[in-house]
Amino acid sequence: MLPCPSFSLVTLTYVTLVAAQSAVLQYAPSTMVQCPDVSTQPLLRVFTPQSQAIHPLEMDYIQSKESNVLPNAWTAWIGNASQIGYNSPEFGGNYSKIGMAISGGGYRVAQYGAGVISALDARNDSARAAGTGGLYQVTSYLSGLSGGSWLVVSLALNDWPTTSDLVYGNGGNLSGWLLDLDLVTPDGFDVFDSNNQAYYGSVLSSVLAKAAKGIDTSIIDPWSRLLSYHFLSGTSPQNFFTNDSSHGAGQLWSQATMTPSYQQAIAPFPVIVTNSLPIGSNLTIPSISQTVYEMTPLEFGSYDPNLSAMVNMTFAGTNLTNGNPDNGSSCVTGFDQAGFVMGASSALFRPSLDSAETTLEGFSSGDTNGILFMLDQLLKNVVTRGGDVANWPNPFHSVASSTFTESDSSWLELVDGGSNGAQIPIDPLLVKARGLDTIVIVDGSSEEPSHWPNGTSMLFSAQRLSTVLAASHQQLPPLPESVGSFISAGVNQRPTLFGCDPDTPEEYPLVIYLPNSPPLTGDNPSTNYDTFQFAYTDKETQIFLDQAHNNTIGGFTPNSNAPDPNWGKCLQCAAVDRARLKQNVTSRSSMCQECFSQYCYDPLNPPSSSELPNRKFTLVDPDPQGLLQITTFLSANKASIIGGVLGLVMALGILTGILYRQQQRKEVRYKLVSQYRKNDPVWEGYEEFELSGRDVQ
Ligand SMILES: *[C@@H]1O[C@H](CO)[C@@H](O)[C@H](O)[C@H]1NC(C)=O
Ligand SMILES: *[C@@H]1O[C@H](CO)[C@@H](O)[C@H](O)[C@H]1NC(C)=O
Ligand SMILES: *[C@@H]1O[C@H](CO)[C@@H](O)[C@H](O)[C@H]1NC(C)=O
Ligand SMILES: *[C@@H]1O[C@H](CO)[C@@H](O)[C@H](O)[C@H]1NC(C)=O
Ligand SMILES: *[C@@H]1O[C@H](CO)[C@@H](O)[C@H](O)[C@H]1NC(C)=O
Ligand SMILES: *[C@@H]1O[C@H](CO)[C@@H](O)[C@H](O)[C@H]1NC(C)=O
Ligand SMILES: *[C@@H]1O[C@H](CO)[C@@H](O)[C@H](O)[C@H]1NC(C)=O
Ligand SMILES: *[C@@H]1O[C@H](CO)[C@@H](O)[C@H](O)[C@H]1NC(C)=O
Ligand SMILES: *[C@@H]1O[C@H](CO)[C@@H](O)[C@H](O)[C@H]1NC(C)=O
Ligand SMILES: *[C@@H]1O[C@H](CO)[C@@H](O)[C@H](O)[C@H]1NC(C)=O
Ligand SMILES: *[C@@H]1O[C@H](CO)[C@@H](O)[C@H](O)[C@H]1NC(C)=O
Ligand SMILES: *[C@@H]1O[C@H](CO)[C@@H](O)[C@H](O)[C@H]1NC(C)=O
Repeated sequence: MLPCPSFSLVTLTYVTLVAAQSAVLQYAPSTMVQCPDVSTQPLLRVFTPQSQAIHPLEMDYIQSKESNVLPNAWTAWIGNASQIGYNSPEFGGNYSKIGMAISGGGYRVAQYGAGVISALDARNDSARAAGTGGLYQVTSYLSGLSGGSWLVVSLALNDWPTTSDLVYGNGGNLSGWLLDLDLVTPDGFDVFDSNNQAYYGSVLSSVLAKAAKGIDTSIIDPWSRLLSYHFLSGTSPQNFFTNDSSHGAGQLWSQATMTPSYQQAIAPFPVIVTNSLPIGSNLTIPSISQTVYEMTPLEFGSYDPNLSAMVNMTFAGTNLTNGNPDNGSSCVTGFDQAGFVMGASSALFRPSLDSAETTLEGFSSGDTNGILFMLDQLLKNVVTRGGDVANWPNPFHSVASSTFTESDSSWLELVDGGSNGAQIPIDPLLVKARGLDTIVIVDGSSEEPSHWPNGTSMLFSAQRLSTVLAASHQQLPPLPESVGSFISAGVNQRPTLFGCDPDTPEEYPLVIYLPNSPPLTGDNPSTNYDTFQFAYTDKETQIFLDQAHNNTIGGFTPNSNAPDPNWGKCLQCAAVDRARLKQNVTSRSSMCQECFSQYCYDPLNPPSSSELPNRKFTLVDPDPQGLLQITTFLSANKASIIGGVLGLVMALGILTGILYRQQQRKEVRYKLVSQYRKNDPVWEGYEEFELSGRDVQ
């Protein structure tokens, strides 16, 4: 019989005894905290689409950025604008207000977004030389969702370093993302390996510490802790398998305001997006009208018309009824763990499980079946409320009771920010009160079979905006009317400007769309990995980032594989164009007019993908051996896949057992995983493994 490793009653008891010393326990929120006097310092803000306003502290931040940071940042980027045919004093110091959105898509998008940002960052030499480096510095908002949220949270909590330093480490306090250590089985596919065991032990002890505070946990809590090892600071190859670090536990989203870059308003204002499901439903995909939430370091809530309310992020986790805590000392702090914010935004278990009955992207059908089967069995055994969603105490109880569907509920069930079909976190950037002029969309979503975007998400967002959000949000500019026309126009294969010529500046913002696309040079692509690949070798990451960087500084030249030497200037034209239009001081320069005729999508005269010759679409992994060696979730090595999933299942099994125990359930039974796949040789080693409720009680 295989020893049932540290997951036994003995170990769990031991865990509770020694746990007190461990820094990873800072994942537990503090309960019974003194509440502010809500009569003078309210925790809740309610408004209507008509009276919509942003938080005064957000306003202060943006104003401070506009007076102290942006004028110099614009000058550093575009100088006096003579190179694009303008004279910048004509703008009167009034430039376009810009936001940037990073889509969902796992590790792929975290890396794609990092490569794109490096290409728009004035601190990067080749970006500055190309004229693209500087757009990032004049960006006021940065939103992220799912994999994109990992990048945004990682930037924000690490004081906005260059993406090179963030991803590779800087030899100082940044250790890099350590993407070569698999997210689920960092020490290789043997889940019983002592390092993996220590890893799961640390992860579980954090989650148990939270559960011990009486706060419902779920699969999303261990998921959040796994992500924290990579995207938050404090974890290095040396301490990865030890408790010498908190591994990001205790780093709070509300504390993103403490970094020097935030204090000086150098950074863009970060916003993370998450979806929700109706409480207790077995739905897998939220309906188009289901509330979409945003999480800034200041607030949690939604500008969707039917909620129109925000609460103070510092006190996330507190039960509020119509804005009032149960009593003066019933507040919770420390619930807004940055890891949990990333985890909630990427809580993809429900949608990927059920909708993927036949397609779990990237997995072969046999592996898909194996994974889905196991996870499905797991979920069937998890009958705690919200076992596969991020459980968030509802701070909007009794708010907007005639329109907000969760107004009666004690909890919110948060799921992956892209699960409703909108993979790009555009909504926060189109909130009317934020008044953005120009939106940069970094779309690394996987929509067509080779994991490139094809416009599906853009079109879904446009539809939701024009219906559900018509009263509260700006609209997207005209887009191709179908996915087919998006693809045939080629606008998903090169940078594209949408909405170049509105009737009035207010009609809609200008969109700078930067899709993940094949190298313009005709080289083999290495940026379109599967969403579910959770390990990358250093070489894969390096080539990925460089390729995304090169494409982003390159623009495109019609009917050619040469980069466009004018693209940097064209991007500057796009960035200032709404300011020009609003100031009405000058007509578009001939330089910019030329750029716009090349890069704008004109619905009456759409471009064609045939102008983009010799593009290659199939991923070529530059380091296939490395990938096999480090055993990924996706690798061709079947045992590794099962090992990874089994590790997760085991971890969750333990967790669930504990939760049941806390809820005084008599019995929880975990069936033999192997029972379901008796005839499959890869299961042999696990034949004897069983975890039952009795084991954990
Ligand atoms: C704008 O800057 C360029 C280069 O720095 C300079 O040659 C030109 O004289 C400037 N134009 C004006 C109007 O100041
Ligand atoms: C810049 O914008 C402000 C506020 O909208 C306005 O008062 C000012 O006149 C503008 N400056 C110029 C030169 O148009
Ligand atoms: C890392 O160190 C740099 C330079 O000492 C500092 O500016 C930055 O804030 C530090 N970052 C973190 C996350 O501690
Ligand atoms: C970290 O601490 C937890 C709880 O005390 C324990 O389960 C886990 O094995 C420890 N990890 C290591 C590497 O010591
Ligand atoms: C979801 O719940 C409904 C009503 O409770 C039930 O009829 C349906 O079978 C459930 N669907 C699944 C997939 O479990
Ligand atoms: C949250 O509440 C605390 C205590 O009242 C206050 O200091 C802080 O400014 C509030 N933050 C926001 C974003 O309202
Ligand atoms: C919040 O309310 C829920 C449901 O009533 C309860 O289970 C939970 O313990 C409460 N949380 C706190 C911190 O009081
Ligand atoms: C808002 O709430 C009203 C009243 O419940 C409902 O009729 C409407 O469909 C809701 N709108 C959306 C977009 O959910
Ligand atoms: C576009 O993406 C959607 C969503 O992933 C997919 O269902 C559809 O098949 C794709 N269409 C094409 C032509 O690639
Ligand atoms: C600029 O970006 C490229 C591509 O990611 C990277 O290789 C290079 O190191 C960066 N340079 C700096 C100074 O960060
Ligand atoms: C990026 O561009 C540089 C400069 O042209 C080139 O040396 C490098 O090989 C390119 N990298 C990739 C991955 O395409
Ligand atoms: C802007 O300029 C155009 C063309 O010169 C003119 O028709 C329009 O009335 C002007 N708008 C404003 C607000 O000044």
